[in-house]
Amino acid sequence: MAMKILAWTVSNSHTSINGQLIAHAARLIEEGLLGDATVEVLDVNDFEMPFYRPDRDEAGIPAEAHQFFEAIGAADALVISFAEHNGHYPAIYKNLFDWMSRIETQVYQGKPAVFFSSSPGSKGGGSVMKAALDSSQWFGSDVKASLSVPKFYENFDSDKGEFRNAEMGAEFRTALSSLAVN
Ligand SMILES: Cc1cc2nc3c(=O)[nH]c(=O)nc-3n(C[C@H](O)[C@H](O)[C@H](O)COP(=O)(O)O)c2cc1C
Repeated sequence: MAMKILAWTVSNSHTSINGQLIAHAARLIEEGLLGDATVEVLDVNDFEMPFYRPDRDEAGIPAEAHQFFEAIGAADALVISFAEHNGHYPAIYKNLFDWMSRIETQVYQGKPAVFFSSSPGSKGGGSVMKAALDSSQWFGSDVKASLSVPKFYENFDSDKGEFRNAEMGAEFRTALSSLAVN
Protein backbone atom coordinates (compact mmCIF):
# COMPACT_ATOMS: atom_id res chain seq x y z
CA MET A 1 0.00 0.00 0.00
CA ALA A 2 1.23 3.49 -0.82
CA MET A 3 2.90 5.39 2.00
CA LYS A 4 0.80 8.41 3.07
CA ILE A 5 2.81 11.59 3.58
CA LEU A 6 1.24 14.59 5.28
CA ALA A 7 2.95 17.93 4.64
CA TRP A 8 2.36 21.45 5.86
CA THR A 9 3.94 24.88 5.99
CA VAL A 10 4.31 26.65 9.31
CA SER A 11 3.47 30.10 7.97
CA ASN A 12 0.40 32.22 7.36
CA SER A 13 2.00 34.29 4.62
CA HIS A 14 0.27 33.88 1.27
CA THR A 15 3.69 34.23 -0.39
CA SER A 16 5.42 31.86 2.02
CA ILE A 17 8.91 30.80 1.01
CA ASN A 18 8.50 27.74 3.22
CA GLY A 19 5.37 27.00 1.23
CA GLN A 20 7.59 26.94 -1.85
CA LEU A 21 9.80 24.34 -0.15
CA ILE A 22 6.74 22.23 0.71
CA ALA A 23 5.49 22.51 -2.90
CA HIS A 24 8.93 21.37 -4.10
CA ALA A 25 8.91 18.45 -1.65
CA ALA A 26 5.39 17.47 -2.76
CA ARG A 27 6.47 17.48 -6.40
CA LEU A 28 9.52 15.29 -5.66
CA ILE A 29 7.29 12.82 -3.79
CA GLU A 30 4.76 12.80 -6.65
CA GLU A 31 7.64 12.12 -9.06
CA GLY A 32 8.55 9.03 -7.05
CA LEU A 33 11.43 10.09 -4.79
CA LEU A 34 9.96 7.96 -1.98
CA GLY A 35 8.70 5.16 -4.20
CA ASP A 36 5.02 4.31 -3.83
CA ALA A 37 3.85 7.31 -1.81
CA THR A 38 1.05 9.87 -1.84
CA VAL A 39 1.25 13.37 -0.40
CA GLU A 40 -1.46 15.54 1.13
CA VAL A 41 -0.65 19.19 1.85
CA LEU A 42 -2.57 20.94 4.63
CA ASP A 43 -2.85 24.74 4.94
CA VAL A 44 -2.57 25.94 8.55
CA ASN A 45 -4.72 28.95 7.61
CA ASP A 46 -7.66 26.55 7.42
CA PHE A 47 -7.05 25.76 11.10
CA GLU A 48 -7.01 29.23 12.60
CA MET A 49 -8.67 29.19 16.02
CA PRO A 50 -9.23 31.50 19.00
CA PHE A 51 -6.13 31.76 21.17
CA TYR A 52 -5.72 28.85 23.48
CA ARG A 53 -6.73 29.72 27.03
CA PRO A 54 -6.96 27.27 29.92
CA ASP A 55 -10.39 28.75 30.63
CA ARG A 56 -11.48 27.65 27.16
CA ASP A 57 -10.70 23.97 27.82
CA GLU A 58 -14.03 23.65 29.53
CA ALA A 59 -15.88 24.79 26.43
CA GLY A 60 -14.12 22.03 24.47
CA ILE A 61 -11.24 21.77 22.05
CA PRO A 62 -12.16 23.30 18.66
CA ALA A 63 -12.96 20.93 15.79
CA GLU A 64 -10.02 22.30 13.75
CA ALA A 65 -7.53 21.00 16.32
CA HIS A 66 -9.15 17.54 16.24
CA GLN A 67 -9.11 17.52 12.42
CA PHE A 68 -5.40 18.37 12.22
CA PHE A 69 -4.51 15.89 14.99
CA GLU A 70 -6.46 13.14 13.21
CA ALA A 71 -4.75 13.93 9.90
CA ILE A 72 -1.38 13.42 11.62
CA GLY A 73 -2.65 10.15 13.05
CA ALA A 74 -3.75 8.93 9.61
CA ALA A 75 -0.36 9.67 8.00
CA ASP A 76 2.66 7.38 7.77
CA ALA A 77 5.17 10.26 7.79
CA LEU A 78 5.31 14.04 8.07
CA VAL A 79 7.09 16.80 6.14
CA ILE A 80 7.04 20.25 7.77
CA SER A 81 8.68 23.53 6.77
CA PHE A 82 8.95 26.23 9.42
CA ALA A 83 8.96 29.99 8.92
CA GLU A 84 10.46 32.02 11.70
CA HIS A 85 8.99 34.97 13.58
CA ASN A 86 11.32 36.38 16.23
CA GLY A 87 13.20 33.11 16.66
CA HIS A 88 10.19 30.83 16.95
CA TYR A 89 7.13 29.48 15.13
CA PRO A 90 4.61 31.92 13.72
CA ALA A 91 1.84 32.32 16.31
CA ILE A 92 -0.78 30.62 14.16
CA TYR A 93 1.09 27.32 14.52
CA LYS A 94 1.92 27.77 18.20
CA ASN A 95 -1.80 28.17 18.77
CA LEU A 96 -2.71 25.13 16.67
CA PHE A 97 0.02 23.15 18.44
CA ASP A 98 -1.14 24.23 21.91
CA TRP A 99 -4.71 23.21 21.14
CA MET A 100 -3.60 19.83 19.73
CA SER A 101 -1.46 19.20 22.80
CA ARG A 102 -4.64 19.38 24.88
CA ILE A 103 -5.90 16.33 22.97
CA GLU A 104 -2.64 14.45 23.52
CA THR A 105 0.85 15.68 24.46
CA GLN A 106 2.38 13.48 21.77
CA VAL A 107 1.16 15.79 19.02
CA TYR A 108 3.38 14.16 16.36
CA GLN A 109 2.21 10.70 17.46
CA GLY A 110 5.56 9.01 16.89
CA LYS A 111 5.49 9.60 13.12
CA PRO A 112 8.75 9.74 11.18
CA ALA A 113 9.27 13.34 10.12
CA VAL A 114 11.53 15.62 8.10
CA PHE A 115 11.82 19.23 9.21
CA PHE A 116 12.74 22.06 6.83
CA SER A 117 12.98 25.78 7.51
CA SER A 118 13.94 28.86 5.56
CA SER A 119 14.28 32.60 5.84
CA PRO A 120 15.43 35.33 3.44
CA GLY A 121 18.30 36.09 5.82
CA SER A 122 21.11 33.85 6.97
CA LYS A 123 19.98 33.02 10.50
CA GLY A 124 16.17 33.10 10.90
CA GLY A 125 15.52 29.62 9.54
CA GLY A 126 18.27 28.18 11.73
CA SER A 127 16.83 29.65 14.91
CA VAL A 128 13.33 28.29 14.39
CA MET A 129 14.82 24.93 13.40
CA LYS A 130 16.71 24.81 16.69
CA ALA A 131 13.50 25.62 18.56
CA ALA A 132 11.59 22.95 16.62
CA LEU A 133 14.24 20.25 17.11
CA ASP A 134 14.91 21.04 20.77
CA SER A 135 11.24 20.73 21.67
CA SER A 136 10.15 17.97 19.28
CA GLN A 137 11.35 15.15 21.56
CA TRP A 138 8.62 16.07 24.05
CA PHE A 139 5.90 15.81 21.44
CA GLY A 140 6.40 12.36 19.96
CA SER A 141 8.27 13.24 16.80
CA ASP A 142 10.75 10.90 15.18
CA VAL A 143 12.82 13.38 13.16
CA LYS A 144 14.76 11.45 10.54
CA ALA A 145 16.43 14.48 8.96
CA SER A 146 16.34 18.26 8.98
CA LEU A 147 17.62 21.03 6.74
CA SER A 148 17.55 24.77 7.19
CA VAL A 149 17.82 26.77 3.96
CA PRO A 150 19.40 30.21 4.58
CA LYS A 151 19.20 33.13 2.14
CA PHE A 152 16.21 31.63 0.38
CA TYR A 153 16.21 33.82 -2.71
CA GLU A 154 19.90 33.18 -3.38
CA ASN A 155 19.46 29.44 -3.08
CA PHE A 156 16.01 28.79 -4.56
CA ASP A 157 14.50 29.81 -7.89
CA SER A 158 10.87 30.73 -7.14
CA ASP A 159 9.94 30.88 -10.83
CA LYS A 160 11.14 27.35 -11.51
CA GLY A 161 10.16 26.01 -8.09
CA GLU A 162 13.52 24.35 -7.58
CA PHE A 163 16.94 24.98 -6.07
CA ARG A 164 19.50 27.10 -7.95
CA ASN A 165 22.09 25.90 -5.46
CA ALA A 166 22.57 22.35 -6.72
CA GLU A 167 24.38 21.18 -3.60
CA MET A 168 21.55 22.40 -1.38
CA GLY A 169 19.00 20.83 -3.71
CA ALA A 170 20.79 17.51 -3.29
CA GLU A 171 20.80 17.93 0.50
CA PHE A 172 17.06 18.63 0.37
CA ARG A 173 16.38 15.44 -1.61
CA THR A 174 18.63 13.41 0.70
CA ALA A 175 16.76 14.72 3.76
CA LEU A 176 13.40 13.90 2.19
CA SER A 177 14.64 10.45 1.12
CA SER A 178 15.17 9.53 4.76
CA LEU A 179 11.40 8.85 4.86
CA ALA A 180 11.65 6.14 2.17
CA VAL A 181 10.76 2.67 3.39
CA ASN A 182 13.53 0.24 2.46
C1 LIG B 1 7.06 38.98 13.01
C2 LIG B 1 8.31 38.58 12.28
C3 LIG B 1 9.50 38.46 12.97
C4 LIG B 1 10.67 38.11 12.31
N1 LIG B 1 11.83 38.02 13.03
C5 LIG B 1 12.97 37.73 12.38
C6 LIG B 1 14.19 37.66 13.12
O1 LIG B 1 14.22 37.89 14.32
N2 LIG B 1 15.34 37.35 12.45
C7 LIG B 1 15.32 37.10 11.09
O2 LIG B 1 16.37 36.81 10.50
N3 LIG B 1 14.18 37.14 10.38
C8 LIG B 1 13.01 37.46 11.00
N4 LIG B 1 11.83 37.51 10.27
C9 LIG B 1 11.83 37.13 8.87
C10 LIG B 1 11.42 35.65 8.81
O3 LIG B 1 12.55 34.82 8.98
C11 LIG B 1 10.74 35.36 7.50
O4 LIG B 1 9.69 36.30 7.33
C12 LIG B 1 10.09 33.99 7.45
O5 LIG B 1 10.93 32.96 7.89
C13 LIG B 1 9.68 33.77 6.03
O6 LIG B 1 8.98 32.58 5.95
P1 LIG B 1 7.61 32.49 5.13
O7 LIG B 1 7.74 33.31 3.86
O8 LIG B 1 7.53 31.01 4.85
O9 LIG B 1 6.50 32.99 5.99
C14 LIG B 1 10.65 37.86 10.93
C15 LIG B 1 9.44 37.99 10.23
C16 LIG B 1 8.28 38.35 10.89
C17 LIG B 1 6.99 38.48 10.10
